[in-house]
Amino acid sequence: SYFIGGPQPCPGSVPYLCPSPSPPPTYHAFSLGAVVGSQNISARIGEPLVLTCKGAPRKPPQQLEWKLNTGRTEAWKVLSPEGDSWESVARVLPNGSLLLPAVGIQDEGTFRCRATNRHGKEIKSNYRLRVYQIPGKPEIVDPASELIAGIPNKVGTCLSEGGYPAGTLSWHLHGKALVPDGKGVSVREETRRHPDTGLFTVQSELTMTPARGGPLNPTFSCSLSLSPSAPGRRVLHTAPIQPSVWEPLPLEEVQLVVEPEGGTVAPGGAVTLTCETSAQPPPQIHWLKDGSPLAIAPSSVLFLPEVGAQDQGIYSCVATDQGHRSKESPGVSVSIIGLEEGPGLGLVALVLGVLGSLVIAALLVGILLWKRQQRLHREERKVPECPEEEEQRAELNQPEEQETAESNVGGP
Ligand SMILES: *[C@@H]1O[C@H](CO)[C@@H](O)[C@H](O)[C@H]1NC(C)=O
Ligand SMILES: *[C@@H]1O[C@H](CO)[C@@H](O)[C@H](O)[C@H]1NC(C)=O
Repeated sequence: SYFIGGPQPCPGSVPYLCPSPSPPPTYHAFSLGAVVGSQNISARIGEPLVLTCKGAPRKPPQQLEWKLNTGRTEAWKVLSPEGDSWESVARVLPNGSLLLPAVGIQDEGTFRCRATNRHGKEIKSNYRLRVYQIPGKPEIVDPASELIAGIPNKVGTCLSEGGYPAGTLSWHLHGKALVPDGKGVSVREETRRHPDTGLFTVQSELTMTPARGGPLNPTFSCSLSLSPSAPGRRVLHTAPIQPSVWEPLPLEEVQLVVEPEGGTVAPGGAVTLTCETSAQPPPQIHWLKDGSPLAIAPSSVLFLPEVGAQDQGIYSCVATDQGHRSKESPGVSVSIIGLEEGPGLGLVALVLGVLGSLVIAALLVGILLWKRQQRLHREERKVPECPEEEEQRAELNQPEEQETAESNVGGP
């Protein structure tokens, strides 16, 4: 438990000449026999606090009265040793001290005790109470891993939760404080209070324009300075972050890579389309299917998990850089094996195929029969003579050449 209070009067001597413990309270008012010790004290939220009523005898009978003016009271609230305790907020102990079993934010305020000591002298105590809560270690959320030189970049958001009072966040580069100048360095701060506990969440988003040709691995950190009312360690530091700095690269080639290669999958298969550009900072990527924009959030990867007939088509991606220049990739086709003509047309195609084959077969048979008849006619017309016979023999030796020649000349 906490014990905070001024010096106790030494029995048999003048109170304000007692040796005082450190830090000594400031006695700033002397009036006809009254001594007022004024003290600024701080107490941690949730912990008990005991305030000493200076000059009061340790045991009853006592002449003393506590008066408090805090966030819980309307004007002054009076507590006496004989009175009941004030709910669970505060009560006067048998030795005259005031106990607050669990200090809350609403207990901030002024506490006064007026007691008459054994020598009949009135002694006043005066306390100004400030409460505090030490927040968790601040951290940098959404830290940037890469920064582009010459343009503003979000470096990260420094966040501290659960502190009271709020405290102040500050950013450091290579250990030196970064002072927001609205140009190269800017900071957006936000402070919220938890509706139930009243504790603060503070955050500070750092945006910075790294100089071209500057350090390639700058080290950023953030720190929270606690309010002076909190004792002990006054500053809490985050772990540092070390993004790498890139020089900007113009938007030139835009390539679309399809996986599996060729963009052909079995029905229900997955296709991954990746839009690649060397531009820095990374441009925004939008997607087109058969020339029309797809209503999806910008992303460099388009994943089609279960490809169906409706997903078939020509895909392309459009990269847009920060200067609003755009470039489109070559189109890439996504198709499904066995679905080129759509499911309804498959049967028709099969029937047509079979019919076609039959017609061709019939034609071939017809041609063969026709050729054979022609040959028979010729043999009947021309009585075999010697040169003819020679020719016929030659024909028999080169049957293929002869047939092609014949079909070229006398096709159906
Ligand atoms: C207590 O704090 C107030 C302001 O918060 C200041 O004016 C005063 O001097 C302080 N008193 C002591 C004794 O430190
Ligand atoms: C009064 O009693 C409380 C609780 O027993 C104790 O913490 C405190 O130190 C006492 N005060 C004085 C002035 O002795």
